[in-house]
Order: sequence, then C-alpha cells, then structure tokens
Amino acid sequence: MTGFFITFEGGDGSGKSTQARLLAVGLEAAGHTVRLTREPGGTPLAGAMRALLLHSTASLEALAHVDLVPGDELTEPMLPLTEALLLSAARAQHVARIREWMDTGVIVISDRFADATLAYQGYGRGYDLDTLRTLERIATGGLRPGLTLLLDVPVEEGQRRKRAGHEEGEELNRLDIETQAFHQRVRDGYLALAREEPTRWITFDATDAPGALAEQIWRVVSARLGG
Ligand code: TMP
Repeated sequence: MTGFFITFEGGDGSGKSTQARLLAVGLEAAGHTVRLTREPGGTPLAGAMRALLLHSTASLEALAHVDLVPGDELTEPMLPLTEALLLSAARAQHVARIREWMDTGVIVISDRFADATLAYQGYGRGYDLDTLRTLERIATGGLRPGLTLLLDVPVEEGQRRKRAGHEEGEELNRLDIETQAFHQRVRDGYLALAREEPTRWITFDATDAPGALAEQIWRVVSARLGG
C-alpha cells in the first residue's frame, strides 16, 4: 500500500464533513489524487448498513423488508452489541475498498473511521473498550490512519449547529438525538484517544470560523505529506 490515509473525527455538529470536503478540494488543486469517503458507509452495502444504523422509525419502515408478527411495532431498540457488530460489518466492506484505493497510491480521506466506534459506542454508550478494539482489528485487518484530525467543539455548540441544520431541513439521526451527557462522554472520549496517540492525532478548536480552520488543517496536512 502506497497511499496515505487521513481521517476526520469529532462530535456531531463539529463541521468535519465540510472540512473533509475542503481538504479534498485543496489537495486535488495541489495535484494529488484524492478519494473522499465516510463511515458508516463508503460502499453500497456499507451504505445500506448505515441506513439501518442511523434510522428513524419512519425510515426503518421504508426499508425493503421487515419481519413483523402481530403486535410488533417498528420500535425495536438496537442492542449495543448489534450496533457495534453492524458498524464493524460496514467497516469491513469499506476497508476492502480503501485498500484498493491505497494500492493505487491515492490520498484517502474518510469522514469518521474506527475511532468513532471507540468514542461513541465505547465512551458514549459504555460498551467495553477492549471488545471494541478486538472488533476493530477484525474489521480493519490492521488498517489504521496515518493522520487523524479531531475537530473539537463544546457539546452545546455542536447541538446548536445540529438544531440549526435541522431547521433548514437536515434529518436528525438516531445518535443525534442522544442526551447531552452522552455527547459529553463522546467528546471526552475523543480527547482521551487523541492524548493516547499524539503523533497520529491532531486536535483543532472547531469553534474557529470554517475558513480559518481549513487553513490550520491545510498547514498540518501539507507538512505531514511533505515530511
Ligand atoms: P455522521 O454524522 O458523521 O454522518 O455520522 C453518523 C453518526 O454515526 C454520528 O452520530 C456518529 C455515529 N457513529 C457511531 O456511533 N459509531 C461509528 O463507528 C461511526 C463511524 C459513526
């Protein structure tokens, strides 16, 4: 594998999807070949799993086939284990594709990757971190990002941005509507993960204006690619 793998991580409303796009555009303008992808998702099958993972009850109803027995409602809660396994299954599909891209020497940018499972399912939900790390190894076969950009934003600000997006028509997913305490644990979890591996992770203050943030990210990424 000769490519370079960059991931964006951060809480909901941290602006990472916007920054991932800006970075991809900037790198392409600088002459690199870039693949921009995301998790959950990144392939058709993983995208179908994304729909299951993030569904609202209404969207679950729209999925092709749901087994119902009389008395069932479309409100079956997803077990933490199911969530972790589905995320890992989607990741396995995605990793196969990322490896193919990396083999052609491109820069792969993923809007979230395996660290999100540690932050959300581990720190957020309280699911056992060692088990999640084992699942990560199985799903990724050891593929890890060369650089992870953490966009850190206070929970209240992230939630405010999400609400504003929702008022403009963006759908809120099953995890967006988790409690403030859950999102606080996710934020603290991300910061803890970043402290554990300070070479791979770079943390940014994502309350900065998008343009200023994009410049800071650009400086870090170009230094890393040039070095
Ligand atoms: P997005 O908002 O970046 O599109 O991600 C969708 C949601 O999925 C977000 O609320 C975080 C959640 N998620 C997890 O809980 N665990 C994971 O491993 C990933 C990749 C995402």
